Amino acid sequence: MIKQLTINLAPTYPIYIGDELLTHDVIKNLFTNLNKKLVIITDSNLVATIGKTLQKQLEQYGLTAELLAFPAGEAHKTRETKQSLEDQLLQRKYGRDTCLIALGGGVVTDLVGFLAATYCRGVPAIYVPTTLLAMVDASIGGKTGVDTPYGKNLIGCFYQPKAVLMNVNYLLSLSANEYRNGMVEIIKHAMIADADLFHRIKHQYVHIMERAPNCLIELIDESCLIKKSMVEKDEKDLGMRQLLNFGHTIGHAIEAVSHYQLSHGEAVAIGMLVECYLSMQYGLLDEAVLQEIRTLLEQYHLPLQTNAFADKELFLEKMALDKKSINNKAYFVLLEKIGKPYVNAGQFTTRIDAQLLDQALDWANSQFNRT
Ligand SMILES: NC(=O)c1ccc[n+]([C@@H]2O[C@H](COP(=O)([O-])OP(=O)(O)OC[C@H]3O[C@@H](n4cnc5c(N)ncnc54)[C@H](O)[C@@H]3O)[C@@H](O)[C@H]2O)c1
Ligand SMILES: [Zn+2]
Repeated sequence: MIKQLTINLAPTYPIYIGDELLTHDVIKNLFTNLNKKLVIITDSNLVATIGKTLQKQLEQYGLTAELLAFPAGEAHKTRETKQSLEDQLLQRKYGRDTCLIALGGGVVTDLVGFLAATYCRGVPAIYVPTTLLAMVDASIGGKTGVDTPYGKNLIGCFYQPKAVLMNVNYLLSLSANEYRNGMVEIIKHAMIADADLFHRIKHQYVHIMERAPNCLIELIDESCLIKKSMVEKDEKDLGMRQLLNFGHTIGHAIEAVSHYQLSHGEAVAIGMLVECYLSMQYGLLDEAVLQEIRTLLEQYHLPLQTNAFADKELFLEKMALDKKSINNKAYFVLLEKIGKPYVNAGQFTTRIDAQLLDQALDWANSQFNRT
């Protein structure tokens, strides 16, 4: 099975979702019609396995692709790594007739996308995301960039790839933790836009956990459609795209306070619950819905434990540092129902006053602090 969707930004580009993707003519033609020198860039965990396999598959089509790698992990999503890759490409005399293939998780797609945007003033990139999070989130929407000691993703640009190829077979080797990180983003998409998807995630639990290919193709397709619709309406993240930040205002602060001991998915899962609680306090969401969401997250083995709320002042300080807060005021995406965000007079976020936030953080501490 292969599914295709098109991202309608300028220029438009296709996303293909399937298994055994490289055996399909449409993918073969994509590479052969490019007529570029190909360089696969991946991370050190994937180079000997997924990297070599992709290189060999391209060879079967008569295409030569060089394979480069940089050390895996967020710690290497840096300007230094970008520079080192640029130097390696320049030394090997790659010019404007190059196409970079970003093969890996969100670290690889973010960094290689940024590299492609500036190398020789811009060369095409094809993304081959290999984590669930990179498929449903990082490879759609054109945000690229690197981290700095001052904060994450602070240097980068918007740059759209030529195509995105999502092969669900890659997901079979993903750790349970990385898989959960992607599932949390899918659950987030359902919560802000699609109640039916939410219920399918609930009922198809067994197939989803088994990573059954056809089930994953459907799930990723639906999740990508949600992100697609938001980025198409708001390419530069000035309006509707803010909805994608649901759970992340609290989630990012949890990550910061806990020094990234929790995975992104674990932190965002708790973040979504606290932001649901705020929605409830604000008189929008029923308590029963909050419980339903919590049950789903527990079903997907999210531990929902952190002591990040123990020191409220520290928590608020970290939240204020989040680049999404405006003039130190706390703005949140709120929900009315599952699949229905609260949009007030065209605003996608709502300012929450200090007292309400304070109560929510007390509630969070009572719910999630098990130490
Ligand atoms: N651009 C965007 O819009 C956007 C959106 C969300 C996240 N991001 C970025 O994405 C990054 C996180 O992405 P991630 O969670 O994919 O992390 P990641 O790229 O670090 O991958 C996680 C780990 O899984 C390994 N891995 C990757 N594919 C694998 C596979 N198929 N089998 C086994 N192991 C595999 C990697 O080597 C790595 O160790 C962050 O830097 C974040 O800022 C960007
Ligand atoms: Zn996220």
